Amino acid sequence: MVAHASNVMRADTVRLKNGRAVTIRPAVVDDAARLQENINSVGAEIDYILIETVGDNLDAEREWIREFDGVSSILLVAEDGGKIVGQADAHVGRSPKETHVGTIGIAIREGYRNLGLGRAMIERLFEWMRDRRLEKACLQVFSTNTRAIALYKNLGFEIEGVRKGQYRIRGELVDDIMMGKWLA
Ligand SMILES: CC(C)(COP(=O)(O)OP(=O)(O)OC[C@H]1O[C@@H](n2cnc3c(N)ncnc32)[C@H](O)[C@@H]1OP(=O)(O)O)[C@@H](O)C(=O)NCCC(=O)NCCS
Repeated sequence: MVAHASNVMRADTVRLKNGRAVTIRPAVVDDAARLQENINSVGAEIDYILIETVGDNLDAEREWIREFDGVSSILLVAEDGGKIVGQADAHVGRSPKETHVGTIGIAIREGYRNLGLGRAMIERLFEWMRDRRLEKACLQVFSTNTRAIALYKNLGFEIEGVRKGQYRIRGELVDDIMMGKWLA
């Protein structure tokens, strides 16, 4: 990850609702194995994110981490005692027509949910987005993911669109909820 002039790329320690101290910081290439473990663990639960597995290719994971340059994208990790317990990323729109918008993704491991970590990580992404002069944050979420939708609404996101039955999860059709938040 390329260093950025402002402190939006800092490491911060946050106190979770259960008292544990977790560090939120930009990912580095050395996080590859632990990041892979985090996403594979959330993916294997099936119910929350589109990815089910990213496999075990460490070179591919390192390459993926390197692509986050801190300017057009950022990848944050949450670390507790050397274990990566969450990750959150944001990408600026690639088209010149979409460079005012940042898209968010987040995956927190079981055992670290409902403790305020998701809120803290997304607030760090908002900070980065504002620093990059982005105007709008957006994301997509399964209609069944009530915790995620509740958090996003609490953070000021609104539902902007619904793709009906876009996914089939455990045999059931699930809607894709598109949410957005103006950052100004
Ligand atoms: C979704 C996710 C990012 C949320 O992060 P988190 O750390 O668990 O959430 P937080 O503790 O910061 O906030 C959860 C909020 O929702 C509320 N909440 C939790 N479950 C809820 C439910 N079923 N209904 C209504 N509200 C609920 C909590 O009270 C809390 O409210 P607050 O913002 O007023 O404090 C995290 O649980 C996660 O990564 N889950 C697995 C992967 C996933 O779902 N990724 C998102 C895909 S779009």
